[in-house]
Amino acid sequence: MTAKHSPPGIDYRWREPIADEEVVDLALSHGGRCEAGWWSRVREHSLGWVGARDRSGLLVGFVNVAWDGGDHAFLIDTKTRGSHQRRGIGRQLVQVAVHHAAAAGCEWLFVDFGAELGPFYLDACGFRRTDAGLIHLTTATATATGGAG
Ligand SMILES: CC(C)(COP(=O)(O)OP(=O)(O)OC[C@H]1O[C@@H](n2cnc3c(N)ncnc32)[C@H](O)[C@@H]1OP(=O)(O)O)[C@@H](O)C(=O)NCCC(=O)NCCS
Repeated sequence: MTAKHSPPGIDYRWREPIADEEVVDLALSHGGRCEAGWWSRVREHSLGWVGARDRSGLLVGFVNVAWDGGDHAFLIDTKTRGSHQRRGIGRQLVQVAVHHAAAAGCEWLFVDFGAELGPFYLDACGFRRTDAGLIHLTTATATATGGAG
């Protein structure tokens, strides 16, 4: 793991209220997409989430932790505001999520990512590589029903 620390003045909170519009704004800030209403629907099913705010209260980072209700937790939708990236915020978000997932009794925390984010998740955040499987459901379903091609 790198020794980089989060910048001063950023506050990280587990399960603090975050409005749906704030998550949408955060996603747009880094060029991502986020359907309005998504976070409001998902929140109640999460083990928890981490929000990072600057001194003005602006949401500058977010990560959600889904789970199976037992010992498996899943890190998803890690986001750092576009103007705040590469300052250690993402790494700190993940550290706080790791701490709370463990405190909640989970044994394993999973994440999947594109190869280009290996330096972030593997080197900076400390995940190890594992075998995994994936089905593209839209394609698989279309093929199974004869609808593909
Ligand atoms: C991925 C993301 C959350 C990283 O957040 P961040 O706050 O910029 O990350 P950090 O500053 O904590 O990065 C720590 C280290 O991870 C690595 N890293 C960070 N972002 C990276 C990227 N986009 N590509 C490759 N390595 C990256 C670097 O080694 C970095 O250290 P350095 O800046 O000294 O080189 C951010 O780029 C983001 O929000 N991206 C858009 C959304 C996204 O793709 N989320 C991931 C979904 S799986």
